[in-house]
Amino acid sequence: MPLITWNDNLNMGVKALDDDHKRMVGIVNELHDGIMLGRARDVLSRVLDELVAHTENHFAQEEQLFAQTGYRGRTAHKKEHRKLTKSVKELQDLYKSGAPGSLSLETMNFLETWAVTHIQEDQKCGPHLNAKGIQ
Ligand SMILES: [Fe+2]
Ligand SMILES: [Fe+2]
Repeated sequence: MPLITWNDNLNMGVKALDDDHKRMVGIVNELHDGIMLGRARDVLSRVLDELVAHTENHFAQEEQLFAQTGYRGRTAHKKEHRKLTKSVKELQDLYKSGAPGSLSLETMNFLETWAVTHIQEDQKCGPHLNAKGIQ
């Protein structure tokens, strides 16, 4: 069973960003499945790398749309992105350093909140982007 089940309540109404969020949720679920199945460290490490890379690309794309459309909440939102990036990178570093228990079910609960909080925060920008013709 996936850790996070995608449902339409998570949509923000901008196709490219919704697709990114689905992928983000998909990678978090992949990591969760990998832990449950006891996958090797290098396999989990690659999934974590993918999560970090996807997150950085996705945030950059969002920030570009905010700048382009003059979104007023963009400074605070960017700050939130930096915090989210920092926490997932810290997790990546910790795991790569071989710290025992650095990727646990507890970590996955953290990542679940991490992903959902980000998506809910983005939903506040959906109407602004839609009003600027970005669907
Ligand atoms: Fe997002
Ligand atoms: Fe965002």
